Amino acid sequence: MSARAYLARARLVPVVTIDDAARAADLSCALGDAGIRCAEVTLRTPAAWDAITEMVAVADETGVDVGVGTVLSADEVTRAHAAGAHFIVSPGFDPATVARAHDLGLACLPGVATASEAMAAQRAGCDTVKVFPAGLLGGVDYIDALSAPLVDLGFVPSGGVNPTTAAGYLAHRAVPAVSGSWMVRRDDIAKGRFDTIRAASFEAAALV
Ligand code: 3PG
Repeated sequence: MSARAYLARARLVPVVTIDDAARAADLSCALGDAGIRCAEVTLRTPAAWDAITEMVAVADETGVDVGVGTVLSADEVTRAHAAGAHFIVSPGFDPATVARAHDLGLACLPGVATASEAMAAQRAGCDTVKVFPAGLLGGVDYIDALSAPLVDLGFVPSGGVNPTTAAGYLAHRAVPAVSGSWMVRRDDIAKGRFDTIRAASFEAAALV
């Protein structure tokens, strides 16, 4: 499945930064209870790879696919594939990272901030890019401007998306999904506040 088709089905990509892999399965359950279909686990903590393994292990039960985020190299793509991830996300556009993802059949979402980067990603075979940091770049107006000439590309805003702005992004024809951490706050995960995460995730899911 293409990245755009995959993301259009998911609509929401919670961005998870997790400090304790022992919390990962419960986190997946909370997201799955709310009807969320995927989660991006960022490679920003020592616990990230173990958490990915835990979440992949319960994915059939929770219905939550696992993606790997903050991917900075082709080697991390290979490791994500071996761990059973469904997709990878990167803060920027790196041709070698994108090529490895395509070679391995992984949906791939590179980050862009300009039209030139978006064009480079498209030339590398991407049908969708992450616009990062979307809030600082100008929000939905920026995506509207960027998508006007790049009519075949999907844009997933990330960075500063919140419950107030998410619906506006999702209503845009070029936005298959939105990504953000607002429903899976790092502190809530660390403290095991899964009821809070479940409630925020239900609210987020109601937007789509
Ligand atoms: C990130 O880099 O963490 C993602 O873009 C999510 O950003 P957010 O925490 O502002 O939602």
